[in-house]
Amino acid sequence: MTVRKVLRSGRPLLRQHTRPVQSTEWDSGHLHRLVEDMIETMREEDGVGLAAPQVQAGLRLFVYEITPNPRYPDLETEQPPRVLINPRITKRSASMVHEWEGCLSFPDLRARVPRHESVKVVAKDRDGEQISIPASGFEARVIQHELDHLEGRLLLDRVQDPETIMFSDEYQRFHNHTHGGSSSEPSS
Ligand code: NI
Repeated sequence: MTVRKVLRSGRPLLRQHTRPVQSTEWDSGHLHRLVEDMIETMREEDGVGLAAPQVQAGLRLFVYEITPNPRYPDLETEQPPRVLINPRITKRSASMVHEWEGCLSFPDLRARVPRHESVKVVAKDRDGEQISIPASGFEARVIQHELDHLEGRLLLDRVQDPETIMFSDEYQRFHNHTHGGSSSEPSS
């Protein structure tokens, strides 16, 4: 397994639509290596998800794994690694939730964006088996974020209030109320 370089915002590939993985590619060593490298890279970078275009592969697939790490210390849910190939959302809740997100393609930034509170996504797993995942809360947020990557959309495209775009350490100091953040500047 190899840790690959994660492209940062500004690289044109991140703005392109990906193409579906063909059935002929399923058993290829190329696809399996890509998936293994993506999981390794996500862990190395303390991400909770990674989409193929972020490692220069224009394919419709992403991985995610929800487990506390230095970038996301306060997660309420956990999810072992999942590989979603040719995913599509089949159901979206009407209700939206505005919450904080980061992205490995915007290192050190956080922003608050709206996402559907719950979604249902169907995809193939790494063995080519059909999977159907009902997700809510943070997991639904991760899935919607990674699906955006497959269509060339990035985190900041979704921001409604530009005042919520900030550096991660300042977010931790002043805006993360679940982890000791305070809402005002210290007076000294
Ligand atoms: Ni991202």
